[in-house]
Amino acid sequence: MEKLGMNEIREKYLSFFESKGHLRLPSFSLVPKNDKSLLLINAGMAPLKPYFTGKEIPPSKRVTTCQKCIRTPDIDRVGKTARHGTFFEMLGNFSFGDYFKKEAIPWAWEFVTKVLELPEERLWVTIYENDDEAYEIWNKVVGLPPEKIVRMGKEDNFWEIGTGPCGPCSEIYFDRGEDKGCGKPTCGVGCDCDRFIEFWNLVFTQFDKDAEGNYNPLPKPNIDTGMGLERIATIMQEVDSIFDVDVIRGITDYVGEMAGVKYGDDKKNDVSLRVITDHIRGVTFMISDGILPSNEGRGYVLRRLLRRAARYGKLLGLDRPFLYNVVDVVVEHYKGAYPEIQERKDYIKNVIKKRRGAV
Ligand code: SER
Repeated sequence: MEKLGMNEIREKYLSFFESKGHLRLPSFSLVPKNDKSLLLINAGMAPLKPYFTGKEIPPSKRVTTCQKCIRTPDIDRVGKTARHGTFFEMLGNFSFGDYFKKEAIPWAWEFVTKVLELPEERLWVTIYENDDEAYEIWNKVVGLPPEKIVRMGKEDNFWEIGTGPCGPCSEIYFDRGEDKGCGKPTCGVGCDCDRFIEFWNLVFTQFDKDAEGNYNPLPKPNIDTGMGLERIATIMQEVDSIFDVDVIRGITDYVGEMAGVKYGDDKKNDVSLRVITDHIRGVTFMISDGILPSNEGRGYVLRRLLRRAARYGKLLGLDRPFLYNVVDVVVEHYKGAYPEIQERKDYIKNVIKKRRGAV
């Protein structure tokens, strides 16, 4: 397994699915279009909902994207743990009524074992409890032994987020090794310790859930897969935390240099460095997508991220405005995949600088 950088993994994923007939689309904006159920895009499939439901015709029946996402329910845990973040990128391949399980599963396996070269013996999968079709494909087509195909219930293996397209799913896990585990005799796939990490979710999108909770069958079955880029990079680079992944660490180290502290030297400082590193990425992309700090909705999320970053900056002794300078490093690392942040860099920095009590 090669220690691929985050930018390389992203590119390998998108070109692999292009080679399987997918149209590569740029990330959609973080601001949802015509979707009142969402404040911010929180999954790769979120901007594609109208294509799944048939409300709109997709530009191709096969699409692949790397989607910028924001999820804030765990915002208070960011910094305190190695894995929580509010900003992340999600790689995905999607079929709108075109291919289904018998293509999606072997392609996922081909990508992880042949392109990323993850060692097969470290890989496990889960399927939805009664999904015998997925079982047969993992077992007969891919060749996984039965003990490596774990059946799980609705809580784990049925993907839905609020209303909209959803369905049973199959997840791929990486075993980071016994030394990372809790050591309990029951430890295995699904254990919440750090040993078995789920990194790719293949959703067999067959239903459209309505506000009353009914699962209405979609006219044709679809595929929606999601692989957290930061998470797969953590695995490939054999590090313990998303903040140690090459690109992200570049930002953490820069903030550390500004503050005259080193990441890893002091637990309290590390919390601050992680919060700032996470939040500045979200802030950069939100402003780039036209969001401004305000007292409500998306603007409030942005304001909160800015305030938290400032507060943790103060804890590091950064009293003068500093955050807008970190935008330069974010842009350096991300401009290859998101050229728009390069074009809007001065604007983004100005918005951060101009807010009252700038940070
Ligand atoms: N929708 C699924 C997820 O977000 C797969 O893309 O995990």
